[in-house]
Parts: sequence; structure tokens; C-alpha cells
Amino acid sequence: MRTLRTIAEMQLAAESERGAGRRLAVVPTMGALHRGHVSLIERARTAADVVVTTIFVNPAQFGPNEDLTRYPRPFDSDVAVAGAAGSDIVFAPSPEEIYPEGFQTFVVNERAASGFEGAERPGHFRGVATIVAKLFLATKPHLAVFGQKDAQQVAVVKALIRDLNMDIELDVAPIVREPDGLALSSRNAYLSADERARSVVLYKALTDAQRRAAAGERSATAIRRAMYGILKEGRPDRIDYAAVVDPGSFVELEDVPLTGALAILAVRFGSTRLLDNMYLEQRKSEA
Ligand code: PAF
Repeated sequence: MRTLRTIAEMQLAAESERGAGRRLAVVPTMGALHRGHVSLIERARTAADVVVTTIFVNPAQFGPNEDLTRYPRPFDSDVAVAGAAGSDIVFAPSPEEIYPEGFQTFVVNERAASGFEGAERPGHFRGVATIVAKLFLATKPHLAVFGQKDAQQVAVVKALIRDLNMDIELDVAPIVREPDGLALSSRNAYLSADERARSVVLYKALTDAQRRAAAGERSATAIRRAMYGILKEGRPDRIDYAAVVDPGSFVELEDVPLTGALAILAVRFGSTRLLDNMYLEQRKSEA
């Protein structure tokens, strides 16, 4: 496995693989790789000849009071994990390589990025869309694998690929969870033992929403209220939001459709923000 540091090296390697007729997949990450990332890399491995894992903690997607400086950066173990999971190349540029002096061009999504994470974290998706576009241009993939865990990011990347006519297939991998249901995230490491124990309410709230929808509840307001009720049992420091949305536009829904509604939530324990989501389906009536 190779570690490449510059865009020029990465583009050359990608060109040479493409020239040899090989299919490239990219798995963009910010490092601190866990089993969730491993599942993305393994998925890419089954679908491509060459797997590129990118490791870059992107300053442009962090707000001024967010965790950019304390974000975990276990680089050597990340490289080992990426290799063991099936990566052929790790692309790990420096911030200066990505955002050199004079950098002035950003990619802005105007719809899917506007609510929820976009409203809570102004500028976040501008940073995400910009780095994802740059990573795509550097790695030249046929396929990109993202995790469903960051559902709004998936909506933004889908729109990016579609709106900018990128010739890239998007694969969205299911959320990987701990045995008690907590979705894997690099930020789980920040939770104290007590916060970790209380964080099970996220999964409880989402599975309750799923049960209610399957039992025929059509009111998104009723489902949202029930999610808030369960989340409060975990005494979080703040519930940023709990809602039922259309997964493509991230517009909040009033009525739960038969299929394709997404329950989403963001909750804070101490200074740690946890996100999760789950698809809701109305049980089809037996006619
Ligand atoms: O999901 C992440 O880890 C990041 O948002 C991404 C896609 C690697 C862009 O920095």
C-alpha cells in the first residue's frame, strides 16, 4: 500500500490506474478510523480494482468553536487500518496542499445543506462540498463510498455529483452500530462513561420512531414528539433537533409517506455532538 501526499502524485497514480483499465473507488475520511470506516473500505474493495482511502481533517468544515484542534489524528494506526481493510492507496495531503495561499473557490449547496446540520453548523457543508469536490478531482474515482451515518452529507454529495455533472457513482453504506445501538463515530471517544451509557437514547428514539411508523402513525409531529420524549430520558445537555425529513432535500415532513422518510437527530452530551438517523416505512396494508 502506498501513502501519497500531493495532489499531483495522486492524480498521476489515478490516471495510470484508469489508463490500465482499472476501476477506482474512493473512501473519503477524516481519519480516526473505526469499524464504520472499515466497512466502507471493505465495500469499496468488493466493487473496485483500486481503493483509495483519503485521510484529511478538513479545517474548512469546522466552525470556530468546534473540535478541529482536538480532533483525533492517529495517523500511523489509520494507515495500518486502511491497509488491512483493503486500501491500495492512502491519500493524506497537508492543509497547505489542499488550501494553498490564495485559495478562494468554494462549492455551496443551496438547498439540502440549509437546515439541520447546515443551520447548526454554518459553513459546515460549504467546507464538506468543497473538500469532497477537491478529493474527487485529485483521486479521479469511478465510485465513491460514503456512510449513511452522515445522512445530510450524503444528500449534499448526491446533489454535488448530480449538479456538477460528475461522472462518479455514489454508494451509500449502512450505519455500523455498537451492540447497544449507538452508531459508530470518531467522536464517541469523547464521551465519558456516564454519557456513553446515557447515549443509548438516540437508538431508542429512532427505533421507537420506526415502530410507530410501521404501526401506521402518519403524523411526523407525533413521531418527533415521541423522539424528544425518549431523548430527554437520557438527560442530554442539548437536543439540537429530532425530525422526520425527506432524505433527498432534507426538508421536514408533516406526513410520513409509505416509504423513504428519514428520522434524524442530533444530541449533545457535554461538548460531544452525536448524530444518527433511521429510515421509516409504513407497513403496507394487506388489501
Ligand atoms: O464524513 C467525513 O468524514 C467528512 O465529512 C468527509 C466526507 C471526509 C469530508 O471531509
